[in-house]
Amino acid sequence: MSVVAPVVTIDGPGGAGKGTISRLVAARLGWHLLDSGALYRLTALAAVKHEVPLDDEPALADVAASLDVAFLAEGAATTVLLEGQDATNAIRTEQVGDAASRVAALPAVRQALLQRQRDFRQAPGLVADGRDMGTVVFTDAPLKIFLTASAEERARRRHLQLREAGVDASLSSLLKEIQARDARDMQRSVAPLKPAIDAIVLDTTRLTIPEVVDRLTELLTERGLASAT
Ligand code: C5P
Repeated sequence: MSVVAPVVTIDGPGGAGKGTISRLVAARLGWHLLDSGALYRLTALAAVKHEVPLDDEPALADVAASLDVAFLAEGAATTVLLEGQDATNAIRTEQVGDAASRVAALPAVRQALLQRQRDFRQAPGLVADGRDMGTVVFTDAPLKIFLTASAEERARRRHLQLREAGVDASLSSLLKEIQARDARDMQRSVAPLKPAIDAIVLDTTRLTIPEVVDRLTELLTERGLASAT
């Protein structure tokens, strides 16, 4: 008899804190982590590198299917390799994020990445961070979370994050980009961004990161997925 590893899905719009929260919850539980957005970002970056137009769906699906990537976890940090080269920082730019959101709207690209994402589900468990983890990729997950925050708060967080990285960006243009990306992610015909019907929606606008991690740990404990220690 094969036992499937448990999954907690953490979906929501960009800037809601999914990345940080998912990493901390995975570390606390000792579970694997799937950063599905990174796969869309890597697809976009590989397409640009190989000069594949961002509207050529069959060619982009080929890029996604043949992605040569590796995620190397070193303590709290993860190094992302694309075709053997460090792409950790390159996939985090606004341009690659924007291109990722365009290629992610293409059904053939999503299909090409589906099994690759499911393969991350391994013992002792998986924290899956994305937009459609609970609605498409891991529909049977025993705990589904949808993290939100106001667009203004998400722009403010992104601004702070960029400032810390030494990047100067205007708050109003970040807000516009966030709103445009939200609209594209919510309106696309395949796997639109929305909470699964059985998801718990958590608004993080007024919560600190430790508060959100504590709340998720509580929920995991209530469902028998983690011990209370
Ligand atoms: O989460 P992140 O900002 O890295 O994701 C980049 C883009 O990839 C998102 O704007 C979204 O369009 C897309 N994405 C997706 N489905 C996922 C994860 C990300 O469509 N599961």
